[in-house]
Amino acid sequence: MKKFTFIIFLLTSCTSFICACDPLTVHKVTTTIFDGVPTMPSPEQYCRDYHIQATKDEQEARQKQEQGVKQGSIHPPFAEKRCNDCHDKSTDSGFVVAADLLCAHCHKGFPAGNFLHGPAAVGACLKCHAPHSTDNPNLLVKPAAEVCDVCHAEARSSSKLHTISRTKGIVCTDCHDPHGGSNRFFLR
Ligand code: HEC
Ligand code: HEC
Ligand code: HEC
Ligand code: HEC
Ligand code: HEC
Repeated sequence: MKKFTFIIFLLTSCTSFICACDPLTVHKVTTTIFDGVPTMPSPEQYCRDYHIQATKDEQEARQKQEQGVKQGSIHPPFAEKRCNDCHDKSTDSGFVVAADLLCAHCHKGFPAGNFLHGPAAVGACLKCHAPHSTDNPNLLVKPAAEVCDVCHAEARSSSKLHTISRTKGIVCTDCHDPHGGSNRFFLR
């Protein structure tokens, strides 16, 4: 009985000791106590790999800049290779949730306001955005000046205002929020 209590004491003190340490120390301790714990790279190796990757990223960024691809954008979860945050082969949709709910899965409470823009309201985000990366800012599939024309070819009731603003090079999203808002026509 005494021996048993001692083992329990030993186990609990060991675990609390392990839990208090960083992963590398925990690993060191566990490999000393137990067999079969997979080997980890040394801290030196970690830093070297990180440096190699960082230099590679810098080079790629510079190359892109030289090629004139300055305006592009890349979705952080894609850039960070967190593919499984979105993709899931085991579901019907192929995504972690239904396709029309995927963007809202992370972009919560979006869009907001009493007036919601049709495609944004129904989760058709991909009509305007790409999920991975594009050559345009904000992951837009087309430059901001063209993205509305895909659907809004109809004549404007307020055509004068709209014609003038177009000739002045003002884009739709300078006045309209593309997602929705608290003003009619999602005016900013
Ligand atoms: C933010 C969510 C998200 C992340 C993160 C993401 N994807 Fe996707 N991916 C999508 C969506 C949505 C589509 C469907 C695009 C369409 O229907 O136009 C897609 C499409 C694809 C396709 C089909 C071909 C294509 O390009 O349309 C491949 C392959 C793919 N993704 C691979 C990846 C890989 C590899 C990663 C990680 C490096 C990744 N995806 C990360 C959302 C994501
Ligand atoms: C796994 C979580 C996740 C999912 C799912 C997701 N996003 Fe994102 N998205 C992020 C994060 C993180 C950022 C960067 C921080 C921010 O702007 O909120 C971001 C940023 C963005 C941006 C701004 C990019 C920029 O260049 O400024 C756009 C646009 C966007 N997401 C669109 C989408 C669309 C469209 C979908 C659905 C296909 C989607 N997101 C699904 C996590 C996600
Ligand atoms: C009609 C086209 C269109 C649709 C549909 C659309 N967006 Fe956007 N989105 C834009 C444009 C244009 C921008 C550029 C910033 C701006 O003008 O407000 C943008 C910017 C963004 C941004 C970054 C800046 C911000 O406002 O936070 C996020 C995140 C985003 N969109 C997510 C989404 C999500 C999620 C959906 C689906 C619910 C969606 N968008 C649907 C056109 C659209
Ligand atoms: C994928 C198609 C699509 C794209 C792209 C699109 N829209 Fe729309 N838009 C709609 C639909 C559908 C409606 C709702 C039906 C309607 O009122 O015309 C709508 C409605 C509107 C309305 C309200 C009209 C009203 O009478 O209440 C405005 C304003 C508007 N869109 C502006 C824009 C702007 C600005 C862009 C570009 C950022 C844009 N739309 C891009 C499909 C689109
Ligand atoms: C200078 C600011 C401004 C710009 C730029 C602008 N709009 Fe508007 N838009 C307005 C205003 C203000 C209204 C409301 C007019 C009214 O009350 O009749 C409106 C109304 C609308 C409507 C609903 C009424 C209608 O005419 O059908 C749509 C759709 C629309 N705009 C789409 C667009 C699109 C697409 C673009 C880009 C090509 C654009 N707007 C650019 C200010 C602007």
